[in-house]
Amino acid sequence: KEDKLVDTFGRAHSYLRISLTERCNLRCQYCMPAEGVQLQPNDDLLTSEEIVRLSTLFARSGVKKLRLTGGEPLIRSDIIQLCENLNNIPGIDELGITTNGVALSRHIDALAALGTRLNISLDTLDPTKFHHITRRNGFNRVFKAIEAAIAASPTRIKLNCVVMRDFNLNEVVDFVGLTKTINVDIRFIEWMPFDSNRWNDTTFVPFSEMMELLKSSYSDEIVKLDNDAHDTAKSFALRDAKGCFGFITSMSDHFCGGCNRLRLTADGNLKVCLFGNTEVSLRDAIRAGFTDDELLLIIQAAVKRKKFALGGHGDMYGIASAKNRPMILIGG
Ligand code: GTP
Ligand code: 5AD
Ligand code: SF4
Repeated sequence: KEDKLVDTFGRAHSYLRISLTERCNLRCQYCMPAEGVQLQPNDDLLTSEEIVRLSTLFARSGVKKLRLTGGEPLIRSDIIQLCENLNNIPGIDELGITTNGVALSRHIDALAALGTRLNISLDTLDPTKFHHITRRNGFNRVFKAIEAAIAASPTRIKLNCVVMRDFNLNEVVDFVGLTKTINVDIRFIEWMPFDSNRWNDTTFVPFSEMMELLKSSYSDEIVKLDNDAHDTAKSFALRDAKGCFGFITSMSDHFCGGCNRLRLTADGNLKVCLFGNTEVSLRDAIRAGFTDDELLLIIQAAVKRKKFALGGHGDMYGIASAKNRPMILIGG
């Protein structure tokens, strides 16, 4: 069962990230251009039935963890029902959602009851900067939703903070300060290049530089924490703090060796790596009437085409020039 989704480097894939929509209620600069992206007709996106069918097939092949992304996953009208259906698939023992928090408040109780893990984007603690980066209002709504989610969730909330020079680099010390009193996991993410997000190495900030800044404020209070082999983040905490923090170093020190992830785009492509464009349409296969066994053969063939390391190790320019999708059409 476990060995059905092993690639040519021996990596078993037990984690599927599913994008539920191409739409978003924010317009974050690091993710998409101001004018947004060309959306596909709804009929070309996976239905909830198709998502559950594919997830069931992946679960039978060794996937144990699902994470719902977007666009913004919480704008899908049947989101709670879909979470319930995915939770009930035999073999799935963890379900998560990555959200920008704008439409989160009204769903917190239902998601907490389902045990859904929440990763919430928060790039700044300043409402004016929030508007600058997201090109929309909403800081107070998001911040309140985060507080409510921390209070209600049975598991620790993760906050995602994409760090950019001349924008929020000067806030990393304040963010880490929050972990002293709040039980939250703040992850600082190196800004990654995707189609039409205007990535450049001046605005990019490497992990090493964020760490230097933190050391100058917290010096010997910083403790390294253990990580799971499949974690995206390198984790740390301040001594005696309630929460913790980490760094997702896709550009300066990739973690591809431990990769256990596959992705399903909203339009039904299996994407075997965040970077690069090895994709195959499972939507077309389903709609052509393929059986589960036939679908599995297509999936296995795509997994075998997965490259070892498309993340960076200082060699950032190759990633920046490779053909991919805009981030909004991947889901992270
Ligand atoms: P968990 O499921 O809680 O482990 O969270 P996660 O870090 O895998 O996912 P999340 O959606 O919160 O994404 C946080 C950041 O990690 C985003 O910037 C993602 O683009 C990035 N990320 C997620 N998966 C991968 C991956 O497989 N490779 C790389 N390079 N980055 C990833
Ligand atoms: N680089 C790094 N992280 C990004 N995200 C969106 N675009 C980028 C990018 N270009 C993050 C969001 C969200 C997660 C799914 O991916 O902040 O939390
Ligand atoms: Fe996996 Fe690709 Fe991310 Fe590396 S860059 S961790 S191979 S998805």
